Amino acid sequence: MIIGVPAESSPGEKRVALTPDGVKTLASKGLEVVVESGAGQGAWASDDEYSAAGAKIVSNAIEAADLIVKVIGPEDGSPESEAMRLKPGSALIALLFPHTNVDTIAVLAQRNITAFAMDLMPRISRAQSMDALSSMSTIAGYQAALIAAERLPKFFPMLMTAAGTLPPARVLIIGAGVAGLQAIATCRRLGAMVEAFDVRPAVKEQIQSLGAKFIDLGLSAEEAEDAGGYAKEVSGTTHAKELEVIASRLPKCDVVITTALIPGRHAPTLITKEMVRLMQPGSIIIDLAAVNGGNCEATLPGQTTEFEGVTIIAPLDLPSKMAVHASRMYSKNITEFLGHLIPNKELVLDLSDEITHGTLVTHEGRITHEPTRLKLERSKKA
Ligand code: NAI
Repeated sequence: MIIGVPAESSPGEKRVALTPDGVKTLASKGLEVVVESGAGQGAWASDDEYSAAGAKIVSNAIEAADLIVKVIGPEDGSPESEAMRLKPGSALIALLFPHTNVDTIAVLAQRNITAFAMDLMPRISRAQSMDALSSMSTIAGYQAALIAAERLPKFFPMLMTAAGTLPPARVLIIGAGVAGLQAIATCRRLGAMVEAFDVRPAVKEQIQSLGAKFIDLGLSAEEAEDAGGYAKEVSGTTHAKELEVIASRLPKCDVVITTALIPGRHAPTLITKEMVRLMQPGSIIIDLAAVNGGNCEATLPGQTTEFEGVTIIAPLDLPSKMAVHASRMYSKNITEFLGHLIPNKELVLDLSDEITHGTLVTHEGRITHEPTRLKLERSKKA
């Protein structure tokens, strides 16, 4: 089994799926690794470092390997695309987001690729070290706080100066999952006053332990969470109540960081254009849910815009901006997952295993991820 690390092909992507440390770990288990020349460049890992770690440097890793590891999955099904270049019968591990890339997944199935989506890793203790979404969300939350602090025309901490006392910035964080909690922690370290809320009441203690105030909507866990601990789409009445609470906070906020996501769905709209008008000119919204459409109605994914004097920043590439640590974390997630799939030099597909079954998207010419298969069927009928 030869594991291949191609250079990432998405424009501007700087991360790499395996760092030299990751190669060393795999090589110590007797696995062969080929790395495309320059693949680690964006993350400051040179070909020499990969060679020293035990990898072979090649000009085309997709051709040379049986199992490809990537950060971003193939983009589309066009004849020149990566999906079409993968060798039939080979395996692929990447962030595939099958819910939104149904056509690419169909191509992977047609080409008989065994594909695993890192973004479908089950949120169970056993899989924690393989949880790439948590790794990347940690970076996004940290970066969001730094961008806000840099763009806000005010200090984050309270300052007592000879020129007078300046109050601390007031930050509202909406959604306190991995990214939201990291944003809270970073804003607090920078000295801002932080309020946060989430539909899941379970996060109250975590928010408070970071020194932020929890805004309690009084929801029950049954109303807000599914069996896996993820947020559910809330009822119309709850949504209206939520908008009312957010609207009441906006006139006093300098910064709002939104992170609210519901797995496999469009992000809920939690700040309407009308609500943006309640904010003071010069204030900032960072919409981390932009990747799924955004939590703010005025968000344009991937862009920074100004709406009624409020700057709305909707980045899609935050983990790539911290490519060294993002790659280190992702590489650790990948090596742990490979250790799970390859106990002894060959890929073992135990479909009764929650991690293997949960992440497998295509195998033996079929789409094995049921929600994606159903979505494709529906789109064919429409
Ligand atoms: P996510 O990225 O899917 O969503 C972000 C946050 O938005 C969540 O906290 C969610 O409750 C919240 N949200 C959704 N709709 C909302 C609304 N209408 N208003 C306000 N907030 C809303 O979340 P993430 O970070 O992926 O975490 C989701 C769950 O997975 C959590 O229960 C977390 O504790 C759990 N988790 C478990 C791990 C493990 O056991 N290995 C690792 C990481 C997370």
